[in-house]
Amino acid sequence: MKVLHVCSELYPLLKTGGLADVMGALPFAQKEIGIDARVLLPAYPAIVAGIPNTVVVSEFDNFAGHVILRYGEYNGLGIYLIDAPHLYAREGNPYHDQWYNDYADNYKRFALLGWVGAELSTGLDSWWRAELVHSHDWHAGLTSAYLFNKGRPARSVFTIHNLAYQGQFSHHHLFEIGLPETMFHIDGLELHGQISYLKSGLYYSDAVTAVSPTYSREITTPEFAYGLQGLLNTLQHQDRLYGILNGVDDQIWSPNNDTYIKDHYKLKSMTGKRKNKKKLQEYFNLPRKSDALLFVMVTRLTEQKGVDLLIESAKDIAQEGGQLVILGSGSPHLENGIRHLAETYPENIAVKIGYDEALSHLIIAGGDVILVPSRFEPCGLTQLYGLKYGTLPLVRATGGLADTVVDSNEDNVKSRSATGFVFNDATPKSLSGAIKNAFLLWAKQRTWSSVRSNAMQQDFSWLISATHYNALYQKLSRDH
Ligand code: ADP
Ligand code: GLC
Repeated sequence: MKVLHVCSELYPLLKTGGLADVMGALPFAQKEIGIDARVLLPAYPAIVAGIPNTVVVSEFDNFAGHVILRYGEYNGLGIYLIDAPHLYAREGNPYHDQWYNDYADNYKRFALLGWVGAELSTGLDSWWRAELVHSHDWHAGLTSAYLFNKGRPARSVFTIHNLAYQGQFSHHHLFEIGLPETMFHIDGLELHGQISYLKSGLYYSDAVTAVSPTYSREITTPEFAYGLQGLLNTLQHQDRLYGILNGVDDQIWSPNNDTYIKDHYKLKSMTGKRKNKKKLQEYFNLPRKSDALLFVMVTRLTEQKGVDLLIESAKDIAQEGGQLVILGSGSPHLENGIRHLAETYPENIAVKIGYDEALSHLIIAGGDVILVPSRFEPCGLTQLYGLKYGTLPLVRATGGLADTVVDSNEDNVKSRSATGFVFNDATPKSLSGAIKNAFLLWAKQRTWSSVRSNAMQQDFSWLISATHYNALYQKLSRDH
């Protein structure tokens, strides 16, 4: 089957979060199981730099001005690039400028992405026609609306990586993006008087997936749905809402062949992990104590990630003689909050503000526990990296975190199913309880090793996810 992914990030060329990791792995896994997958992206400077050799597929003028569609390959994967410099030739973050202001023409930039996605199913490239168009997050949400407007020439799937980002734009832009007024309706693009690109993806796609089973259920409730619970409930009842867990790219995240770290290790030979811990302590200028329980966190600093809870609970780590390393960037008040922690507990807590791919690998390899205390988490990837690296995840029971980590309570330890630490409430008290449990387990080193060994044996291969997506694609093409 010919499948086109429509998205706005691709690891390692351009990444703001886990979406890029997914797009840099899923299509490759799909090719391995025989799906003819390609990817459509805006020609952002970082993407063009990574895919310099392209051929022109088509050149046209539409509502977005003059556009050239190019085709190239990245590690053998076919990529279409929308070359429209007036919209995409901007360095840095793809969604906002350096002062964090969303680009004023985002409605047009991402309308064009969806429009080209739909056109690739009807002959924009005369050599390759998508039979199924799979779009990701609000950036690509209009794809299914354009497909609907063309009479549904291809099947469509929309994946929710994060419902919190909705892409809402003023109604008056509708005439500028080539969609008819009749689609601006509660049964259509409209949400609270605006055009919602996210809702477009939900409403007009044949099937919607969320990136974990638990998140796919949570988003049918008001607490997680941002007012979209009605529509999501309907999709669930119509059997059109699925939860398919993300995977981990073994080529990038594997302690035995990670290109970012020097001291490799595996289950049967863990010396490298101890060396990474020492290097990490050295990097952050923390006491080189091998017996200090080292907590780590690598994250965007947003409310989603529960960093505020950690700021409250971090003193427990310091008081127990543990250590904490945080790498993150984002919201200024959270950056200040974690900086203040490091100033208050210089012997125990160290922080680096910024985005640093290489350092993130050393942190995950060198830590003992990786913290993911999220308020909500569609899937979460760092806990999966933690499992593979024997860095036990400490997570809140939500979304993909609940689906991937098993708490080290007595029963689970006995039955050898435990892989980390899980707490329930989004409160500092509940988080502190789990931190305490981590210290209790650390005191029993043999049990710790056994839980760690179980964690390292978990299988979150992308081939599993690719197979689930394939089953969905096949169902949609049969139902057609
Ligand atoms: P989200 O997509 O919500 O940010 P995920 O856990 O799915 O959360 O993915 C986050 C990805 O971004 C992971 O690959 C993580 O290692 C990476 N990441 C987040 N913050 C940083 C940072 N400051 N430096 C390096 N990598 C980061
Ligand atoms: C989003 C979510 C994260 C998920 C990622 C990839 O950014 O916040 O939980 O892992 O997308 O699907």
